[in-house]
Amino acid sequence: MASSFLFHLLLVVAVIRLAGSATVYSDVILGNFSASSVNYLEKGGVFLESISATFSAVLSSAAPQSPFVFSVVHSPTSTVVCRRAVHLLQQRFRAMVHPRLPGPVVALRLLDSGNLLLLDAANNSMWQSFEHPTDTLLSSQRLPNGASLSTPAGDYRLLVTDSDAVLLWSAAGDQQFWRLSSDPRSVTDFSAPVAYMAGNDSGLYLFSAEDKAVIELVLPPTKLRVMRLDLDGHFRILGYSGNNSVLAQSLVAPVGYCDLPLSCDELEVCITQTQGANCNCPKSFAAASSGGCTPADGSALVPPSSCVTNGSQEISYRSLGSGTGYFANKFANLATSGGVFLLLP
Ligand SMILES: *[C@@H]1O[C@H](CO)[C@@H](O)[C@H](O)[C@H]1NC(C)=O
Ligand SMILES: *[C@@H]1O[C@H](CO)[C@@H](O)[C@H](O)[C@H]1NC(C)=O
Ligand SMILES: *[C@@H]1O[C@H](CO)[C@@H](O)[C@H](O)[C@H]1NC(C)=O
Ligand SMILES: *[C@@H]1O[C@H](CO)[C@@H](O)[C@H](O)[C@H]1NC(C)=O
Ligand SMILES: *[C@@H]1O[C@H](CO)[C@@H](O)[C@H](O)[C@H]1NC(C)=O
Repeated sequence: MASSFLFHLLLVVAVIRLAGSATVYSDVILGNFSASSVNYLEKGGVFLESISATFSAVLSSAAPQSPFVFSVVHSPTSTVVCRRAVHLLQQRFRAMVHPRLPGPVVALRLLDSGNLLLLDAANNSMWQSFEHPTDTLLSSQRLPNGASLSTPAGDYRLLVTDSDAVLLWSAAGDQQFWRLSSDPRSVTDFSAPVAYMAGNDSGLYLFSAEDKAVIELVLPPTKLRVMRLDLDGHFRILGYSGNNSVLAQSLVAPVGYCDLPLSCDELEVCITQTQGANCNCPKSFAAASSGGCTPADGSALVPPSSCVTNGSQEISYRSLGSGTGYFANKFANLATSGGVFLLLP
């Protein structure tokens, strides 16, 4: 819904215009505003810039019939920091009104922090992009306890909890595969409930409600932090020094590819390399035609559910050998312990 009401502001009553040059606004757009990517084509879709032109608001479309995409871009590095699909009705660019906006939108303002605001007649903010993060967080932007960054497909999330920031994989029931407090680069300062996560020039922090750092991860100083959840589940912290058009990587979490859920296929053993990972079948397993590995002696794999029910099948277990573990086990609590288990040969 956020996207549609945003567009309501941008295109209160907008009709495709094939001619005429478009103005790129600075800081704020007041009153009704019409735009189409046709007007702004030669300007790369940019229709609004923050005062120092650090950030720009861009309208783009991959093809004439495809939905429009509205983005906020860090101009020096062309980095998209906020992106929303905008669905248009028919040929006319007329969008639906967001039911929860308290009043009519009078202005659109883009701050030098990268925050985009929808303002009412008294210049009060009714909506701001910093309160609705997608996959990216910027310096001075807060991610509150309970909120998350998420990949476009929703398969990975970075969630802020009462006591930590964790990476979750939704395909396996929100399986945890990293947490800030367990990362050796982080330091826990004291024990208090976490109110929000934020980054600044000196690092990444989990703050208490009194704005005291509960957990901190100090990074080399930089002018702007871009904290992004990538498509493969990696959480990357990038820095802009202000010198050129490059975002330098300051941190990647988890460090190794083998700590990501999908670095290898099913049953493959993952070995982290300097770049990426090496995937091989364990001893007594062979590559399966459908990908992944299968027992080399021709036995069939049973689904995990068969291991806990009393089926009529004979089930046996294969040892993967010492030193082989499952990446997420370090974050899982034991279901049971202290019992005697019998592994069939
Ligand atoms: C903006 O557009 C709306 C809807 O068409 C119209 O009612 C309103 O008078 C316009 N405002 C200005 C300032 O042109
Ligand atoms: C709102 O902000 C704009 C731009 O800074 C200014 O021109 C206008 O006077 C302000 N309006 C009110 C009601 O404060
Ligand atoms: C970032 O926040 C931490 C924790 O509050 C603080 O100690 C540090 O001085 C801040 N850095 C900058 C550059 O503001
Ligand atoms: C920018 O580049 C100059 C020369 O390469 C260097 O001395 C300076 O430290 C750089 N500034 C920052 C903020 O990285
Ligand atoms: C499996 O069967 C045994 C004996 O029939 C029974 O004691 C046990 O509770 C069953 N376990 C499960 C998980 O159903």
